Amino acid sequence: MEPLLVEMKGICKEFPGVRALHDVNFSLKKGEILGLIGENGAGKSTLMKVLTGVYPQNAGEIFYNGKPLALKKPGESYKVGISIIFQEFNLCPNMSAMENIFLGKEVRTGAAKLISYKTMRAKAAALFTRLKIDINPDTEIRKLGVAQQQMVEIAKALSYDTQLLIMDEPTSSLAMSEVENLFSIVRDLKAQNISVVFISHKLDEMLEITDRITVLRDGMNAGELKTSDATKDDIISLMVGRELDHFFTKRKGTPGKDIVLDVQNFSGPPITKNVSFQLHKGEILGLAGLVGAGRTELAKLLIGMVKKTDGTLVLNNQHVIINSPVDAVKNGIAYIPEDRKNLGLVLPMTTRENLSMSIHPKLAKFLNLIDRKKETAVCNHYVGRLRIKISSLKHVVNNLSGGNQQKVVIGKWLATNPTVLILDEPTRGIDVGAKAEVHRIIAELADEGVSILVISSELPEILGLSDRVIVMHDGQLTADLPKEQADQETIMRAAVN
Ligand SMILES: Nc1ncnc2c1ncn2[C@@H]1O[C@H](COP(=O)(O)OP(=O)(O)OP(=O)(O)O)[C@@H](O)[C@H]1O
Ligand SMILES: [Mg+2]
Repeated sequence: MEPLLVEMKGICKEFPGVRALHDVNFSLKKGEILGLIGENGAGKSTLMKVLTGVYPQNAGEIFYNGKPLALKKPGESYKVGISIIFQEFNLCPNMSAMENIFLGKEVRTGAAKLISYKTMRAKAAALFTRLKIDINPDTEIRKLGVAQQQMVEIAKALSYDTQLLIMDEPTSSLAMSEVENLFSIVRDLKAQNISVVFISHKLDEMLEITDRITVLRDGMNAGELKTSDATKDDIISLMVGRELDHFFTKRKGTPGKDIVLDVQNFSGPPITKNVSFQLHKGEILGLAGLVGAGRTELAKLLIGMVKKTDGTLVLNNQHVIINSPVDAVKNGIAYIPEDRKNLGLVLPMTTRENLSMSIHPKLAKFLNLIDRKKETAVCNHYVGRLRIKISSLKHVVNNLSGGNQQKVVIGKWLATNPTVLILDEPTRGIDVGAKAEVHRIIAELADEGVSILVISSELPEILGLSDRVIVMHDGQLTADLPKEQADQETIMRAAVN
């Protein structure tokens, strides 16, 4: 029998009002790549946080290399050879990439034990080379995009000498080529008998990289699969406990002919150059491109979050001037950001407050007091529609699982009843069931006449949803394709230009 590196037995974990884990068993062999999967809120992150000492368990035992393991402090797991890439980034925004990688384990040299930036810089650069990415070790984290920040997290995890690498949705912001690089590193680790836990909602990746898959449902074991015998449908039915018919809802209606949003010659920092396109009434327009193509940057110019240097915006045949996101909301343009953690939520506030904050003026009644009944109704509507897993509307958003936080952001903006909805990677980090739900909502909104721009790095998502596809490369539009001409190859060609 192959030796076990980790064995967790009968793990229970409760948070006030939430049973996150119930009698969960988990095992990991040496040199094994294990996939951990389950719907949003199933308990994946919590299980790994119990293993790494972030949370103490209420019951159950953990064995590591055959011996009991009880890490008391978060951040100490690397001392026993476990490194973890947390789902929510743990980087200090004002420190450089290099300082983040070596935080708490600065390289010191000489008799005076001075921090050697030179050595750290070289080591960081070597890690980035290994990951085949181009990041200057001295760049501050806040100046990096989400994908690059994720790479810094990965570099940080790889900087330890580990026996076990836990990756909680490491690929959510990565482009295909970056995922391939990461996978080749994971395979190298396996070859050195290092074990890997891989958490992801991307079933293709699960099937590609893992040896075995453990499925959690509602905080309990739902089953195990040997990857070589498993299909997507097998995984899904264990995850959700029922069959899911299909992923993309075909919309019922067709887009109208009227132009709702006419974007003319938009240019602005950092890379947008002379972008023009039109969005019709009830149309779903897909915006494709590789990571770094400037899609999010364009969205930020459109909603006035970044000041454009040139360009005009015509909304329903009228020139509009949008200098700030507030102006955008006033004009009925809602933007659901890619970087939801920073731009979409107030983490210490409740689900209720987060869901309703963008519609407070609409909820106001006599003396500007909020109509609580109406507020509750709106919140419950979106909680139900998006299947947000919470104990009550008072559940603080910071304590929701990653995917459920994302659903709160989506709900918050849907509640504004926008004319134009810009969605930036709307299903990132969302489980398959909820993803189908988000797709259905997008199609329904379009059928109701909302004009929608969807930015997504997932081509199947773009192809499945869009009535028309535009493609960006290096800040410029490189293609505008009707549905019939939009296929994977044509889009990719335009994306690499
Ligand atoms: N610190 C906390 N306080 C209260 N509840 C929590 C806390 N952390 C997690 N939970 C709850 O525990 C449950 C499991 O959450 P967990 O983050 O483990 O889910 P997950 O499987 O990682 O989901 P996702 O795919 O969305 O990341 C959820 O219902 C969540 O709201
Ligand atoms: Mg999680």
